[in-house]
Amino acid sequence: MIPDPRCGPEPSAGTGAGPLPRYLLPDTAEVGPGGGLSIGGVDVIGLCGEIGTPVFVYDEDHLRARCREARSAWGDGATYASKAFWCKAMARLVAEEGLAVDVSTGGELHVALAGGVPAERIVLHGNNKSEAELASALGVGVGRIVVDSFDELDRLDRLVPEICGARRPAVWLRVTPGIEAHTHEYVRTGQEDSKFGFGLASGAAAAAVARLRARRSVLDLRGLHVHIGSQIFALDSFARALEVIAELAVPLALPELGVGGGLGVGYVEGEPTPSISAWASTVGAAVRSAGWAEGVRLFAEPGRAISAAGAVTCYTAGTIKRLPGIRTYVSVDGGMSDNPRPVLYGSGYETFLPRATSDPRPQTVTLVGKHCESGDVIVRAARLPADLEVGDVVATPVTGAYGHSMASTYNKVPRPPVVFVSGGRARSVVRRETYEDLLRLDV
Ligand SMILES: Cc1ncc(COP(=O)(O)O)c(C=O)c1O
Repeated sequence: MIPDPRCGPEPSAGTGAGPLPRYLLPDTAEVGPGGGLSIGGVDVIGLCGEIGTPVFVYDEDHLRARCREARSAWGDGATYASKAFWCKAMARLVAEEGLAVDVSTGGELHVALAGGVPAERIVLHGNNKSEAELASALGVGVGRIVVDSFDELDRLDRLVPEICGARRPAVWLRVTPGIEAHTHEYVRTGQEDSKFGFGLASGAAAAAVARLRARRSVLDLRGLHVHIGSQIFALDSFARALEVIAELAVPLALPELGVGGGLGVGYVEGEPTPSISAWASTVGAAVRSAGWAEGVRLFAEPGRAISAAGAVTCYTAGTIKRLPGIRTYVSVDGGMSDNPRPVLYGSGYETFLPRATSDPRPQTVTLVGKHCESGDVIVRAARLPADLEVGDVVATPVTGAYGHSMASTYNKVPRPPVVFVSGGRARSVVRRETYEDLLRLDV
């Protein structure tokens, strides 16, 4: 078979013919005597019957448990990367659990504030922050701005006296350490050839530090920040990045250090999921051994490690096309518009039937969406029970990060709703987009 180039490499195989492994489901998932799945005490098939499909079902207790784990591992420096999954309800949840929030656009900032995240608990990222984004961040008083370029420094030099008067906003400097993290090229950010941050080897980082430490700087340089990429399983990559920036950072004796996010998450059977606590221990040890002062405050920004495994996406199988000797296509009512990761990165997922969660999955099919693209593949080698039929709810687990947040309305397919389940109750926190919504911006 010739792989469709738009799908990237064949997703990591690992999907076996056995039942879906329990560890890929959200924390509160339970399988009833008949095989039916419940999450947060809510029957998933019943929920799909009520609300329709596709739908993102989030286990609220799971999200809260991961926030608490991050809090206990990173203390006050635990910061949720909002790009992974963001809406007002998530902002509220994260704020209630005491996490700070990383936003990288004015839009994410707007949602954070609307959800009640205190401005001083917000860290503003972005490689091309506009004047308007910087002005609103300065205006509301976000806790930290992570400076990414000399042009941004010019903008801040102009805006800060105007908006903040004599107050010197706290900033970090994003440094690219020249590390090639072992992950997909599109989510690798620590190498010198990057649109993000100030390069170490080129001397750009040292020049930016010198500019910020000059006596007349309107900004208060509190620390450096490093983020080497996403979906990183080798914890020593984080340690290596810190070792590399130590030469510049340690003599500065700055009080804070942002170590970024990017902790890997297992999506398919057999893929490991390093714990947030193990990540914090490795980073803590690297910081100590590289010579940082004892009291340096560490900030970490997990995104998918908090939200990915907290949700399943439920679809309905509408068409089953058996092509003898070639493959079987199972088409569902969503696709690349609610989960673009397989198309973007060649990411793999598991599949199962929530009505028969513990059943073996002997048949291999290709799970595709309803978009007008051959590349609209959700799972190329999806394992499902033998009795799959049209009308069945088919689910993909570990879809709580970079699904809803990356969703589009391609082919004018309305975006699915988001439902939080907990304690036997389901509540819609983002409603289903309607055809009327699709016309809302047309003038
Ligand atoms: C600066 C920064 N911090 C944190 C994250 C979160 O990454 P992840 O969701 O992989 O933890 C990202 C992801 O792109 C990022 O760019």
